Amino acid sequence: MALCPYLNSSMMLSKPKHPTASFCPLDFPNSQHLSSSLSFIASPIGGVKSVSRRCRQTNQRCSLILASMDNPKKPLKIMISGAPASGKGTQCELITSKYDLVHVAAGDLLRAEVTAGSENGKQAKEYMEKGQLVPDKIVVMMVKDRLSQPDSNEKGWLLDGYPRSSSQATALQAFGFRPDLFILLEVPEEILVDRVVGRRLDPVTGRIYHLTYSPPETEEIAARLTQRFDDTEERVKLRLQTHNQNVESVLSLFEDITVKVDGSLPKEDVFAKIDSALSNLIEQKKTTMLAT
Ligand code: AP5
Repeated sequence: MALCPYLNSSMMLSKPKHPTASFCPLDFPNSQHLSSSLSFIASPIGGVKSVSRRCRQTNQRCSLILASMDNPKKPLKIMISGAPASGKGTQCELITSKYDLVHVAAGDLLRAEVTAGSENGKQAKEYMEKGQLVPDKIVVMMVKDRLSQPDSNEKGWLLDGYPRSSSQATALQAFGFRPDLFILLEVPEEILVDRVVGRRLDPVTGRIYHLTYSPPETEEIAARLTQRFDDTEERVKLRLQTHNQNVESVLSLFEDITVKVDGSLPKEDVFAKIDSALSNLIEQKKTTMLAT
């Protein structure tokens, strides 16, 4: 995502809306190729508005996010997605510590049910062990209930690992939850298996470690680290398969607010890119607020 040089600086560039449009305004040598008339397009997921301009030369349109929320005074609402071990949880730790959003992770909610031994947890575990999506009837209400808590409302939320299907996205919208930004972490598959197998969790602090890339700071922490039951090479391949089957249908619904980030970079560099997108979004909210 980059600031648009042709419109005012509070607007952010999204990817071209039409698959045939391999251009974007940043590719144009100068602004005279863009028509001066703007047209406003409601996002398919609602709430978000984009602005589009037509190129005088090609007569094609490209779109820009104009105002990403119906009420700019509301706190940030962010979704983060990516393949297993793409670094969602790691980035969520960094994002929440800077932006103080409520981290709502579908996988964590499900694991809490599994640990509690509830009926939902027992059913969910069967699917999680096979690397499949847990049925909507369990996941959707779980996520909806967490997003409806007062803290999520007051501080804003960071939704991790949801939605993973178009039906989950539709349910979210039906409950009135509209994200400002959809972050997609992209990591080549050959890196993912290595990340999963080496991942360890600290049950005391909840922090995520990796035996090679992010080792524990002390021997005391190292001694108490645990491993997730679905973190085996065999299971991560199944999870990856499920992810690949569903990701496009979800992405197509959030195209206008998606920012893709290279998740194979060191975690600090990944965060720097996310941080920049979030800072832009906050600036944009402020500008929208001043204008209303
Ligand atoms: P979930 O818990 O969400 O698992 P996942 O999507 O497979 O993702 P992970 O938690 O494995 O990885 P991550 O991207 O958070 O990576 P992390 O930061 O830990 O879901 C588990 C299961 O629950 C699913 O398979 C499904 O069955 C069910 N489920 C969940 N949501 C559902 C939904 N909405 N609907 C239906 N079912 C659902 O990083 C991984 C490792 O890499 C760590 O060791 C970390 O230290 C390391 N690392 C991270 N970033 C970097 C980096 N930049 N460089 C080097 N190492 C890094």
